[in-house]
Amino acid sequence: MDKALQDDFPIDWEQDGFVSRREFFKFMTLASGGLAIGSVGLAAWSSALRGERRFEPIRIARLDEVPTGTALGFGYPRPSDLCILVHHKDGTLSAFSRRCTHLSCPVDYQAQTERLFCPCHNGAFSSKDGSVLQGPPPAPLPRVLIENRDGELWAVGVVH
Ligand code: FES
Repeated sequence: MDKALQDDFPIDWEQDGFVSRREFFKFMTLASGGLAIGSVGLAAWSSALRGERRFEPIRIARLDEVPTGTALGFGYPRPSDLCILVHHKDGTLSAFSRRCTHLSCPVDYQAQTERLFCPCHNGAFSSKDGSVLQGPPPAPLPRVLIENRDGELWAVGVVH
């Protein structure tokens, strides 16, 4: 190296390398810690979104107003949040958001196959548990929690 340049910039190359490695590892440690904390926060946030949420209960219908093998639309938790209640042939009940998890088209109940069908891209969900049966939907339908209060059916919450 030029003597004048070395006088102006008195760098000890070995020491410079040591400092760079130390700074690199310090950066990597901080970055790893930041990613770990971010991952924990993201997991907590997504599990909060996926959990069960209770809303103000609303009455949907009397049980005898929904014969077995039929379905009834309702809004929950807001009137504009389209949902569907299915009274299965075996007498059990289930309810889901009608909003397809692909691109939000409303699903319809198909009694013969006991599934919830999305006509937009031929997606289909189980009307028993909301799981995806076919097509592009990436996730099950959110389930609406139902309570039977002396023959009156109430929506009380949503499970994502
Ligand atoms: S919007 Fe339902 S399958 Fe695409």
